[in-house]
Amino acid sequence: MEVITCVEDLRRLAQRRVPRAFYDYADSGSYTESTYRANEQDLAALKLRQRVAVNVDNRSTATTLVGEVASMPVAIAPTGLTGLQWADGEILGARAAERFGIPYTLSTMSICSIEEVAAATTRPFWFQLYVMRDRDFIASLIDRAKAARCSALVLTLDLQILGQRHKDLKNGMTVPPRLTLANALDFASKPAWVYRMLRSGRRSFGNLEGHVKHASGITTLGQWTARQFDPTLSWHDVEWIKSRWGGKLILKGILDADDARLAAATGADAIIVSNHGGRQLDGAVSSIAALPAIVDAVGTQTEVLFDGGVRSGQDVLKALALGARGAMIGRAFLYGLGAMGEAGVTRTLEIIHRELDVSMALAGVRDVADVRAAEIIDRRHSR
Ligand code: FNR
Repeated sequence: MEVITCVEDLRRLAQRRVPRAFYDYADSGSYTESTYRANEQDLAALKLRQRVAVNVDNRSTATTLVGEVASMPVAIAPTGLTGLQWADGEILGARAAERFGIPYTLSTMSICSIEEVAAATTRPFWFQLYVMRDRDFIASLIDRAKAARCSALVLTLDLQILGQRHKDLKNGMTVPPRLTLANALDFASKPAWVYRMLRSGRRSFGNLEGHVKHASGITTLGQWTARQFDPTLSWHDVEWIKSRWGGKLILKGILDADDARLAAATGADAIIVSNHGGRQLDGAVSSIAALPAIVDAVGTQTEVLFDGGVRSGQDVLKALALGARGAMIGRAFLYGLGAMGEAGVTRTLEIIHRELDVSMALAGVRDVADVRAAEIIDRRHSR
């Protein structure tokens, strides 16, 4: 097997090993995918200042994220249907994050349930909440996250209506996933994946068991979301969720400085600057382009986390340089998982950690806490 040196290697391996409909589900953006591409391109367009003859011995990437000790300023972002990349992917991801000493976020739309992930780990994880029409069900999800000792609630605000992803429609991606003639041939060419999936026995959204039975029948992701998710979501609901939860609250999907001010006014502990990995409003700015104005607007009031397009430690470094406290990884995590299961997630984290450590040193900085003040972005040569 080829030597894996970067996240791109893991992406290519995942593309070969994961059935096409499920790989495409992870590796796609909405509509023209312009925002999806911009997330990566705008990070690449930022140039770092190379600094020399600075003592960079005894470096540290350790930090805290929303008050929790982390071995590096990185957390795993919530991704729905993670277990389609590799059976029990949510448990494997949470375990790898725990061993690495960083936060893992479990999506509402995960295949393994809150309770299953809690039973498989000791480090408290973060639980990501989508607001559905049925508020009693939302209340029960919040209570289950509390009972599982989740250490933060990540409330996602940018997906009350689904941005269309053409590949999902073309691949016949449905809820629940369905066997068709086209994908049956593809599954047959990936027997290891099929074997793991059958052995795991898990098929649907673990957190929604019981709740979605009445809405059974096969639908597209868009139809399913329209039926379940509440398009009336407003800041009043955020207040209600905050008081029902009572713990640390992180608001995800903030891309505009005005929204950042409203988010900070709720008293949330952190916000995540995000455009959902380019999967929602196609044509929106990249996350990294949105970050500086948001940090200026609310950086002294609330912790600012960032996601969108992070594929390397250099990308993490750039986000820190522009004022983020930490970066979250969605696809980089999924590529590792789809390539090699838990070992692949660990490999992703090792690669990003090493790249961050080396790049920080080459930019003349010893500690992640000093990155922002060191002004390591070369403004003259960055777009
Ligand atoms: C996501 N994302 C997401 N976000 C969320 O709050 N709840 C969810 O269930 C999901 N599901 C999901 C599935 C897949 C396949 C992807 C790729 C993304 C968005 C995710 O948390 C994060 O914002 C982006 O993935 C960040 O961009 P990168 O790192 O993937 O470029």
